[in-house]
Amino acid sequence: METVTIKDKMFSLSIPAAEIQTAISKLAEKLNHELVGKDPLFLVILNGSFMFAADLFKMLTIPCEVSFVKLSSYRGTSSTEVVKTMIGLSDDIKGRTIVVIEDIVDTGHTLEHLMKMLDEQQPADIKICTLLFKPNAYLKCIRIDYVGIEIPNDFIVGYGLDYDGFGRNLADIYKIV
Ligand code: IMP
Ligand code: MG
Repeated sequence: METVTIKDKMFSLSIPAAEIQTAISKLAEKLNHELVGKDPLFLVILNGSFMFAADLFKMLTIPCEVSFVKLSSYRGTSSTEVVKTMIGLSDDIKGRTIVVIEDIVDTGHTLEHLMKMLDEQQPADIKICTLLFKPNAYLKCIRIDYVGIEIPNDFIVGYGLDYDGFGRNLADIYKIV
């Protein structure tokens, strides 16, 4: 499909599924190489990251665990500074290597909120791994260790990302027209 309509907005194809999978393979290769012996805990940020996390996790060959937290900051097509914790951290992360799995880093508000929450629990190390990154929207200084694809400042949907709850089921990524 070249275009899709979700609710009141039209979107055009931006990143095809094959390109997404290539980016994920490269991320997995790096993680498998750089986190040997760390037995990391992958912390998936719901909802948007569920598809990315599932595809990435199948490509990991190192011993690792996965857990989930649910944060919320978006309303419609723009990020807000108010980040809410809908489901918190249930694991003991003291002394662990944590790899945060994000679908996309936009302003970085969500990331900052999460880092504060994690730091309090004294993990050994926190790495950030995001499928997509909007460098022109990023307002924070937190280093992002693993980036799949850098994208311009357009609003996108698909592959887990939504517009008002819809569009997460699309296999490709679409941008607003
Ligand atoms: P941030 O707090 O501004 O960095 O936004 C992070 C969260 O907002 C991401 O984890 C996404 O769930 C959501 N988000 C950011 N950009 C987009 C977008 O273009 N489309 C859909 N969701 C987005
Ligand atoms: Mg997200």
